Amino acid sequence: MTALESSTKVQLGGTKGGPEKPTLRQDRWKVQPLVTVAVLTAFVLYSTWAAFQNKYYFVGANVHRDLISPFYSPCVAGDCVPGAKFAFAVNRWTLSPALLILIFPLGFRLTCYYYRRSYYRAFWWSPPGCAVADAHGSYSGETRFPLIMQNAHRYFFYAGLVFNVLLTYDAILAFQQPGLGWGVTVGTVVLVVNAALLWLYSVSCHACRHLCGGQVKSFKAHPLRYRIWKFLTPLNAKHMNFAWASLVFVAVADVYVRLVASGAISDYKLF
Ligand code: FES
Repeated sequence: MTALESSTKVQLGGTKGGPEKPTLRQDRWKVQPLVTVAVLTAFVLYSTWAAFQNKYYFVGANVHRDLISPFYSPCVAGDCVPGAKFAFAVNRWTLSPALLILIFPLGFRLTCYYYRRSYYRAFWWSPPGCAVADAHGSYSGETRFPLIMQNAHRYFFYAGLVFNVLLTYDAILAFQQPGLGWGVTVGTVVLVVNAALLWLYSVSCHACRHLCGGQVKSFKAHPLRYRIWKFLTPLNAKHMNFAWASLVFVAVADVYVRLVASGAISDYKLF
């Protein structure tokens, strides 16, 4: 049998010029899009539920703690619980503050280059994987509404930086134990890890790397930008990992604060 006879025959004319079979791949390529659907759906359902709760988002001085859920920070609603209210609150807003503030972090993730690749593959099968035919007969890219809005990613990146600063401040406040002094509790660790992962997610962003090292004809003339770009490049290679870790952990942080605030568990003091 010649090599030509033993090879798989591919008939042209399938979706977008591919084989009539959607793919010739024989590995378990469907696992990745299915896991993506499961995790993203779970996150959207949980965050929507949590955003509408409008309670159990702050652990305050009555139990010697200063912990706020990242979903509710900054607490900008008029009726935020005592101790949680942000200096620049919108007093007329009496619904959950999470409904106001989650627009920005969710917009940042929704327009993220990595998440776009993931959810286009997982939810729209466009295409579902490498070397797998697109489920759609036509493709207009991101040139028309609503997908043209994805180009706003850089602006959401700027907004994300503001939130990172605020959540870092929350993490510093979590070292405070009103009435007792300063110390470290499990809640402190949770908020510090959450802030660190969010920073890693932001600084590994493709827009951030381009902002720091892009549009430069010669790095020789921009040594500082070159050093920043060199620092960011290996982080950028891990952007996918930071995207998932920070997504899962921000929900973990909300769950933890919620459990402590509702009295289901107490925040264990480490030292
Ligand atoms: S590319 Fe993912 S956050 Fe910018």
